[in-house]
Amino acid sequence: MTTIPYDVKDLGLAAEGNRRIEWAAREMPVLKQIRERFGKEKPLKGITVAACLHVTTETANLMLALRDGGAEVHLCASNPLSTQDDVAASLVADHGISTYAITGEDNETYYKHIDATLDAKPHMTMDDGADTVIRALTDRSEVLDGIIGGCEETTTGVIRLTSLADEGLLKYPIIAVNDADTKHFFDNRYGTGQSTLDGITRATNMLWAGKTVVVAGYGWCGRGVASRATGMGAKVVVTEINLIRALEAAMDGHQVLPMEQAARIADIIITVTGGMKAVDKKHFEDMKDGAVVANSGHFDVELDLPGLEELSESKREVRKFVEEYVLENGRKVYVLGQGRLINLAAAEGHPSAVMDMSFANQALCAEYIVNAASGLENKVYPVPKDIDEEVGKLKLHAMGIKIDTLTAEQYEYLHSWNIGT
Ligand SMILES: NC(=O)c1ccc[n+]([C@@H]2O[C@H](COP(=O)([O-])OP(=O)(O)OC[C@H]3O[C@@H](n4cnc5c(N)ncnc54)[C@H](O)[C@@H]3O)[C@@H](O)[C@H]2O)c1
Repeated sequence: MTTIPYDVKDLGLAAEGNRRIEWAAREMPVLKQIRERFGKEKPLKGITVAACLHVTTETANLMLALRDGGAEVHLCASNPLSTQDDVAASLVADHGISTYAITGEDNETYYKHIDATLDAKPHMTMDDGADTVIRALTDRSEVLDGIIGGCEETTTGVIRLTSLADEGLLKYPIIAVNDADTKHFFDNRYGTGQSTLDGITRATNMLWAGKTVVVAGYGWCGRGVASRATGMGAKVVVTEINLIRALEAAMDGHQVLPMEQAARIADIIITVTGGMKAVDKKHFEDMKDGAVVANSGHFDVELDLPGLEELSESKREVRKFVEEYVLENGRKVYVLGQGRLINLAAAEGHPSAVMDMSFANQALCAEYIVNAASGLENKVYPVPKDIDEEVGKLKLHAMGIKIDTLTAEQYEYLHSWNIGT
């Protein structure tokens, strides 16, 4: 009988969760090394962490690394649909980590779970989307005094926290883990690229080859989604609001169109903008009969679902994660995973091998906060370069890849001006 506080679906799922956590660990050699060092050095001793992350097998491995580093960890979900209930159960039953996450939880439960992590009086927050920081700032200000710093995992969270800092409202320093090269170059691009197609495939069992796939947003995630869809034989159309990214998409071989035109020809639309209403009411109205729409950006506001409701005369679930809207114009539009990140709602999120680097950054940044927080202001800071490079070095090593080093002559040339034509 466990005595720690928790709220999960069913502790009976723990054995399956534990097997899957172990399976993910096989692909996370960098985090494994950090966990082993943490186990010996205990750099997080005495630190309570409130973590609000997608409760997946990879996150479980991060929680174990923090726990072995001496931290008391309280984990809740950063999205109502992304929780893997077997993993949540195993964290509680097999590993003694307080976890508050149930897949499909409503908004009230979602915030009740964030509050449960704050009830533990954390010294540190670890967010994916900044909901814990914002909850602490807006409704739970009594916990702020005890918090020395936090880490943020995703682009949208970094945008929200930077905006708070700009307005002077941030009350403790944050490390923008998302912005490490060893995070967004790989996790956002290859992770979101692969897992978004995986989520849509699992939800629909659709063939990609020959489809017209519209990708809204050609940032780190969008590039990955577009390249993977191309690899599956789809014809990719990109929509953008940034002219350089639009140019890049065009020169990568994709057609670039405004959404107004793209929506009319799409078989599948995938939003990854980090913004709102990339697909708005008018776009829904103009879609072909049978168009499939999914979002892989952080929040569900990328699709104007209230607008779609207004256009629709009926709605029904036709398959798990697939809702059919019948529009007044007679056409049908299919929305996947209620517009929430489809790679985590309908699939398992990013493959462990990329989360290895993202979560290695998280673990090392947690250690950095303990050592450096007293010298930091209430701002959003980049991941220190040496941490980013250490993660890259360990990953290359784990993959068995060796690279060249500059000779003294080459070094000299690259740092001088006097050798020319
Ligand atoms: N699904 C996942 O697992 C996962 C993983 C990482 C990041 N994310 C989230 O995905 C989103 C995108 O992240 P990113 O790192 O690619 O960000 P990014 O800033 O690199 O890219 C976003 C792109 O969208 C474009 N854009 C903004 N509004 C637009 C609009 N209305 N129409 C078309 N293009 C528009 C921007 O110009 C930019 O090029 C964020 O919300 C991020 O938090 C999700």
